[in-house]
Amino acid sequence: MGTTRKKSAIRKKWPASRILLFAAPIGFAIVWMLTPAESAFKKPATWQRMTNPGQLSAAHASLENDCAACHTPVSGVEAENCISCHANNVSLLQNQPTAFHANVDTCTDCHLEHQGRGHRPTTMDHATLSRLGLRQLNDGDQSGEREQVRRQLQVWMAHVGDESLPHHRITRDELILNCVTCHGNEDPHVAYFGDGCANCHETSAWNIPQYIHPSSNSTDCSQCHKAPPSHFMPMFMSMCAKMLGKKPDSVKQCYVCHEISAWNNMKGAPWHKKTMSHIPSR
Ligand code: HEC
Ligand code: HEC
Ligand code: HEC
Ligand code: HEC
Ligand code: HEC
Ligand code: HEC
Ligand code: HEC
Repeated sequence: MGTTRKKSAIRKKWPASRILLFAAPIGFAIVWMLTPAESAFKKPATWQRMTNPGQLSAAHASLENDCAACHTPVSGVEAENCISCHANNVSLLQNQPTAFHANVDTCTDCHLEHQGRGHRPTTMDHATLSRLGLRQLNDGDQSGEREQVRRQLQVWMAHVGDESLPHHRITRDELILNCVTCHGNEDPHVAYFGDGCANCHETSAWNIPQYIHPSSNSTDCSQCHKAPPSHFMPMFMSMCAKMLGKKPDSVKQCYVCHEISAWNNMKGAPWHKKTMSHIPSR
């Protein structure tokens, strides 16, 4: 009964395609039931004799004596073991960058274990993500559920076949990924620079060491920056004229009012009325 409830909860929270993965543990459960009690598999000692390669992460510390929670005999660590505990992680599947979890069939490429209590068991490797996705795209499985996963994969791997690398900080594997499907919400350029994040960015960090921002004297600000909605409110310009004593011809003349160090650092009025702003500063 317990298992039935767990399974139906999983069916609700994790896409239908995942359910396929449950075939294996169910099969295992049947073998388990048919296995004589004295079988080596059933003795806890079998697990304990398997050398423990190192302490589990703090989050999994409670499983230190329950190797079978993650390890399946012979086949090793299987995704469905992880999913059976983590299927209810709604934020994981709803947050834009991690929603891909619904489409991957392996966990250990990015979630290593036994590295010690202080080690967070997560590493993000975009090239690994590409390879995982490609493998699933090309696995030849024609089933309906697989088709659904495949369609989702094609969304975040939209650049399969793209040839030329925009810069040396990005690899061919990474270029396959459609960055904006996972990072669009973090785009500080408010879509001004388009969808091709990889044209300028790498995957290990957003900052670009060799980039030098134009000087405060530049008048080109609006080539790269779009004014926030507040600036188009009817009273904005006249209010600013009063507050800052500045009268630019157009809202596009950001440089008349703004420094380049931070948006709430106004020319001639450093850190101007920061607390007055109804818009949270970035
Ligand atoms: C929270 C899940 C989890 C638990 C519990 C766990 N392991 Fe692991 N274990 C892993 C992961 C993940 C790997 C890496 C697998 C890989 O690289 O494919 C691993 C790898 C290993 C390996 C290296 C060989 C292999 O299968 O890749 C051994 C041996 C191992 N674990 C033994 C144990 C023993 C013994 C216990 C119980 C004392 C245990 N594990 C409990 C997750 C777990
Ligand atoms: C028996 C249930 C159980 C199993 C099996 C299990 N986990 Fe967990 N896991 C937990 C709990 C409980 C936590 C801590 C609370 C939380 O973050 O949900 C956790 C935390 C995590 C975290 C967050 C760790 C951190 O420090 O931020 C990751 C990532 C994770 N698990 C991945 C995995 C993977 C991959 C597997 C399979 C190898 C796995 N889990 C197997 C129960 C489980
Ligand atoms: C391509 C790499 C990759 C794969 C494959 C992957 N994950 Fe993750 N996972 C991540 C990243 C990156 C995060 C986000 C960590 C962060 O918040 O910084 C994450 C987060 C998580 C979390 C939430 C941890 C937390 O802090 O709350 C869980 C649980 C989790 N993954 C489980 C799984 C399971 C189960 C699988 C296999 C079905 C899996 N992951 C496959 C990269 C991966
Ligand atoms: C399928 C989803 C997905 C795609 C596609 C994707 N990423 Fe990510 N990316 C993640 C996740 C998950 C993380 C780790 C959690 C986070 O920082 O949000 C991450 C982290 C990052 C980081 C932050 C690294 C850090 O530690 O500060 C950068 C930079 C990045 N990605 C760039 C890119 C670029 C460039 C592309 C396109 C080539 C791309 N990503 C494609 C999911 C994705
Ligand atoms: C035309 C080039 C270009 C494109 C395309 C581009 N960016 Fe940027 N981005 C930059 C530059 C330049 C910086 C500033 C880097 C620095 O200060 O080191 C930056 C900074 C960032 C930052 C860090 C902001 C901060 O204040 O720390 C993030 C996050 C970011 N970009 C995300 C994206 C995303 C997501 C996309 C795609 C939707 C994207 N970018 C497309 C050039 C670009
Ligand atoms: C060639 C493109 C370009 C021009 C021209 C430009 N900027 Fe930027 N600016 C960027 C990029 C890229 C970033 C980093 C991404 C982001 O934070 O939006 C940035 C960031 C900023 C920031 C945020 C700093 C922070 O860390 O919070 C301010 C403020 C700023 N610019 C003001 C200006 C002003 C004022 C002008 C005109 C004098 C100007 N910029 C001209 C590209 C440009
Ligand atoms: C007439 C002066 C003036 C001009 C011109 C101007 N701003 Fe502003 N801006 C302000 C003032 C005053 C604030 C603080 C009040 C507020 O937050 O609305 C502000 C706030 C901002 C903020 C912070 C609000 C937030 O959402 O974090 C951004 C970003 C910004 N301006 C961008 C721009 C850009 C881009 C341009 C040019 C295209 C521009 N501004 C032109 C006066 C100006």
